[in-house]
Amino acid sequence: MNGDSRLILPTRRTILKGATGAAALGLVSPFPKPAIAQGAPLKVGFMLPYTGTFAKLGKFIDEAFRLHVEQKGGKLGGRQVAFVQVDDESKPEAATDNMNRLVGREKVDVVVGTVHSGVAMAMVKVARDTNTLLIIPNAGANEATGPACAPNIFRTSFSNWQPAFPMGKVMAEAGHKNIVTITWRYAAGQQMVDSFKENLAQTGSGAKIVEELYLPFPEVEFQSLITRIATLRPDAVFSFFAGGGAVKFVKDYAAAGLKERIPLYGTGFLTDGTIEAQGEAANGIKTTLHYADNLDNPANKAFLEAFKKKTNLDGDVYAVQGYDSAALLDIGLTAVGGDAGARDKMIAAMEGAKIDSPRGPISFSKSHNVVQNIYLREVRNGRNEYVSVAHANLADPARGCRLSA
Ligand code: PHB
Repeated sequence: MNGDSRLILPTRRTILKGATGAAALGLVSPFPKPAIAQGAPLKVGFMLPYTGTFAKLGKFIDEAFRLHVEQKGGKLGGRQVAFVQVDDESKPEAATDNMNRLVGREKVDVVVGTVHSGVAMAMVKVARDTNTLLIIPNAGANEATGPACAPNIFRTSFSNWQPAFPMGKVMAEAGHKNIVTITWRYAAGQQMVDSFKENLAQTGSGAKIVEELYLPFPEVEFQSLITRIATLRPDAVFSFFAGGGAVKFVKDYAAAGLKERIPLYGTGFLTDGTIEAQGEAANGIKTTLHYADNLDNPANKAFLEAFKKKTNLDGDVYAVQGYDSAALLDIGLTAVGGDAGARDKMIAAMEGAKIDSPRGPISFSKSHNVVQNIYLREVRNGRNEYVSVAHANLADPARGCRLSA
């Protein structure tokens, strides 16, 4: 282990709620940091939801990140990696404290998180204030790579703007004129609806939004809103839900008899990682996303096989994002021989990263957000099957970002 066998490697630790201190959990190294010369492991802090409606999303990001590290012999950039985990529960009100624990108490070298946009924005603030390297493996809050962009913040997943944008054209071309939108009222839902509307307006098709429906995050009492959709009788519905909420929404929509009468569309989070639980109710749903289960490229095939072997589960978009987060960090650390203290050089390497991702080729824009294909997919035979490229190499407009890297 890089020459210092006295160090205790904390792997797979969960920072438990109510724990009285890191020392009590055996997480504190008796040696000062940075300790690359002494062979200290690189400390990665996962701040992810391990409980609640997004629990599965967090777990898949975590598992796939670890898979990548395992494939590199337990190392990134040649340096041993240790993990600490915090369950952020998708609760924005606890986010600053959780992030401060990782940065202040645990003294992690890099934070990887999170799923929920509101939680992510609190993390972005702490990362900016403390100059902590942050890799966002899901949360789409546009601001993170917009007005709040920073040299030390990267996003491997998407901005909320990205996967929703091409859907305007898709639905207009399908001939839908009167559209209802439905989502949770929080940053991700609002921003995806806005992006979809932006693109719809650009089509010049005359298609319009007849009503925007919202419920508070993470509520799943959809019945009255589904009744409202039945009353409005639009040509189609655009939606964003994810995780456990998406499972219930798709099932409730079908159970209300709307599925055959009013086609349901959305960003691909609606049916990604949820399809098994949704069963028949998901069949035929069309979505746009930066991934599809049957993308025919060697990286995807190898990834899905390895993920299945490790977890006995089918990989999904969240797993891909976790996997690519490790790939990005590996590129940065390789450029500096594992010395995360050589920050400028590391960041320059990450900015120039070109990754052969399971989702297809990806790179990074000046704002440090991922540039990627957005695919149109359709649920067939229990899979999110590729239909077409809805928008090739789509970069977020990064409105308000002042980075000029
Ligand atoms: C978000 O809050 O940014 C978010 C959460 C779950 C998703 C996508 C976006 O699947």
